[in-house]
Amino acid sequence: MSTAGERHITQSADGSTTLWVPGLDEHYHSIHGALTESQHVFIEAGLKAIGTSNVRILEVGLGTALNARLTLDQAQQDGRSIAYDALEKFPLTKEEIEAVGLQGMSKEAPFLTATPGAATQITEQFTFRLLVEDVKSFKGEQGSYDLIYFDAFAPSAQPDLWTDAVFENMYGLLKPGGALVTYCAKGVVKRSMKAAGFEVEALPGPPRKREMTRAWKR
Ligand SMILES: C[S@@+](CC[C@H](N)C(=O)[O-])C[C@H]1O[C@@H](n2cnc3c(N)ncnc32)[C@H](O)[C@@H]1O
Repeated sequence: MSTAGERHITQSADGSTTLWVPGLDEHYHSIHGALTESQHVFIEAGLKAIGTSNVRILEVGLGTALNARLTLDQAQQDGRSIAYDALEKFPLTKEEIEAVGLQGMSKEAPFLTATPGAATQITEQFTFRLLVEDVKSFKGEQGSYDLIYFDAFAPSAQPDLWTDAVFENMYGLLKPGGALVTYCAKGVVKRSMKAAGFEVEALPGPPRKREMTRAWKR
């Protein structure tokens, strides 16, 4: 199944908000701490591992825009410039954006309400583009991204998003020296990454998860 369908707001263990998709029985983040997981996987192991002051990021699965918002917070602290493209096949509805906003996610609104396809200046140093596209058919500019946040639903729920072909495409989209980070540490996924050419690193995972993955294009 690949459609998001019905979504319910729920609270994770660190008090931050996430969504649950009954049709997939998947959460948008770890129920053991949504914000903690995003910070650990995408900011600490991803953004902070990239040495450049201008960072071009591709996110696979914008969802609630938590990763985008944490990236903005970190970039402002560090004085870095970000160009952020986010793929999202099933954007949140206006009602869902309002509802998550009332649950502490109001800083995500500028990302969630951006006009699809247009470059939106979130701040002077942060440009954002929402691409309402399927990651399986995404044709971005080759060798153009420093960092990929691969935040699709788990391979058990959406195996078609974790294939050799998808990781070959991700590899091509990265600049040499770029990295892809994901919460997923499954052996079959790491094998697909290696087959695509990535150098794969296992890192300690967020709470209740032994490992996560960072994959480099050398
Ligand atoms: C784990 S959630 C992402 C959580 C998100 N990064 C956040 O901070 O809230 C996975 C996301 O991938 C999206 N998605 C599902 N299938 C997709 C596809 N084929 N292409 C692009 N996005 C897809 C879902 O709608 C969902 O928003």
